[in-house]
Amino acid sequence: MSVKKRRAAQKAVEFVEDGMTLGLGTGSTTKYAVEEIGKLVQKGYHLVGVPTSLETERQARSLGIPLATLDEVKELDLTIDGADEVDPQFRLIKGLGGALLREKIVAYHSRQEIIIVDESKIVEQLGTRVPLPVEVATFSHGRTKDAIEELGCTATLRGGATPFVTDNSNYIYDCKFGGIEDPKRLEGELDAIPGVVESGLFLDLASLVVIGTDKGIEVKRRAQDC
Ligand code: 5RP
Repeated sequence: MSVKKRRAAQKAVEFVEDGMTLGLGTGSTTKYAVEEIGKLVQKGYHLVGVPTSLETERQARSLGIPLATLDEVKELDLTIDGADEVDPQFRLIKGLGGALLREKIVAYHSRQEIIIVDESKIVEQLGTRVPLPVEVATFSHGRTKDAIEELGCTATLRGGATPFVTDNSNYIYDCKFGGIEDPKRLEGELDAIPGVVESGLFLDLASLVVIGTDKGIEVKRRAQDC
């Protein structure tokens, strides 16, 4: 049990209001948030969740949280999700948990995206702590990998000889850039490679970051959302 992750999750769930449609992220930090959302439902809150993975869907169902697809609800009031890195401009790397594609779609259609992390995820530059996950189509994935590596990284197929398969039946390459100088440019370059389904760069999506620390909680709001 991580106290810092739980603290961040509990704080984020304070932003949930009765009647909201919610994006439910994926990962060990978000698990705590989904637990708290389950408690609100038990209290009588009318909430509808859109899960970003089969794993989160299972947890939400077990807690009695009403679920829908994004197509059914059209727009989300709020999404709560974790991250693997957060830089000073609120840019993120996500996807170590393997759910980046659905997480990005859900984040894009959310009015507010709250990111919950412990302090270990805060970095000065993206790509310095973790590799960048890139989801690719299985067809000809070795050639897609070659094209990705031409952008200046070493790409490793997640799972190796027994590749990890995402909820969308794709593979993930974990790409070590050793520090990403220009995340916006890299996002565009990755998107331009046929076979790349989505990258774990989340650039203009987070509106609030809640950080669990040794001392308590820090809440940071992106300037333009004030
Ligand atoms: C899954 C993700 C997760 O949000 C990210 O990996 C953080 O996970 P955790 O809270 O377990 O550290 O992006 O695709």
